[in-house]
Amino acid sequence: MGFYVPDNVVTNDDLSKMMDTDDQWIQERTGIKERRWVNPAIDSTSGMGVKAARMALERANMKATDIDFIVFATLSPDYYFPGPGVLVQKELGLDTIGALDVRNQCSGFVYGLSVADQFIKTGMYNNVLVIGSELHSGGLDKTTRGRSVSVIFGDGAGAAVLTATDDTSGILSTHLHSEGAHAEELALIGPATNRWVNEIIEENDENDESYFPYMNGSYVFKHAVTRFPQVINEALDANGYQPSDIDLLIPHQANLRISQFIQKTMRLRDDQVFNNIMKYGNTTAASIPIALTEAVEEGKVKPGDLICLAAFGSGFTWASALIRW
Ligand code: UT7
Repeated sequence: MGFYVPDNVVTNDDLSKMMDTDDQWIQERTGIKERRWVNPAIDSTSGMGVKAARMALERANMKATDIDFIVFATLSPDYYFPGPGVLVQKELGLDTIGALDVRNQCSGFVYGLSVADQFIKTGMYNNVLVIGSELHSGGLDKTTRGRSVSVIFGDGAGAAVLTATDDTSGILSTHLHSEGAHAEELALIGPATNRWVNEIIEENDENDESYFPYMNGSYVFKHAVTRFPQVINEALDANGYQPSDIDLLIPHQANLRISQFIQKTMRLRDDQVFNNIMKYGNTTAASIPIALTEAVEEGKVKPGDLICLAAFGSGFTWASALIRW
């Protein structure tokens, strides 16, 4: 595992100088104290992913050239097309291996893991690099109009190197879901083919919000607190485990209140749930690999532990992975 976050720390007080918000509101509603925003001259979505990947490779004692396949999850790609996977292939100096881009927002990393896991289990690839990276800060509405979204999201990247093994450790199962009926409740509508950039320029409407992320916060919250426990229980049931068997649950860092809700619903102890949203905000596809890397660094993930990853977000999509570390 590896991760990278930009050096630039943006506190809640910093935000209150840009928009009508305050530290108390943000901490009470979300648990976030600070987040990182890139310096665009230094960092990009693919570039942060490469930095996280280099750390993961080093810790796995592997060379970049050992990688057989790249999976890159993001909702904030460098370009409209191509996706950032190919930029990682170029930057790491890899041979012409395949690079797949995953578009599943907050669930992107778990979806990506599931792809890597299947490729390894079928024997097609031995070593797969999975990256989740997000650069939100450049596209947020940093005025009071966008405050309910812009205070939440942060920049960063996390990466995992998955490798084939003969022992009983590894990904036990993954569980993927979607419900497109709610696609527009958490979305960035334009520019895209539904709202071409020419249209936006022609209209030249300074009140047009379609190119900022939109989130129906309380609606998303209600779905999240239902879907998280469901998909965690689905993973446990599939493998014959109980919530008490989990050594560490790493939920996607959407909101500390959501994590606390899941913990309470599932009757988990404090030491069974890992949260770091306080430091980084919600980094969507990057949040799980960043949190998992920190949990490993803090000695909270030990060989033989039962680790559960779970995510919910835009789509709606939600997913879980159960791992024997
Ligand atoms: O990662 C993808 C999944 N995402 C999630 O799961 C996020 C789910 N949703 C949430 O986390 C919460 O809904 C939010 C944190 C986004 C918002 O919390 P909320 O308790 O649902 O607040 P709200 O949007 O209902 O707004 C309550 C009040 C409003 O004022 P009035 O109408 O009551 O006067 C907002 O205008 O808080 C106001 N408000 C703010 N005030 C200060 C909204 N944003 C801010 C802000 N600072 N940043």
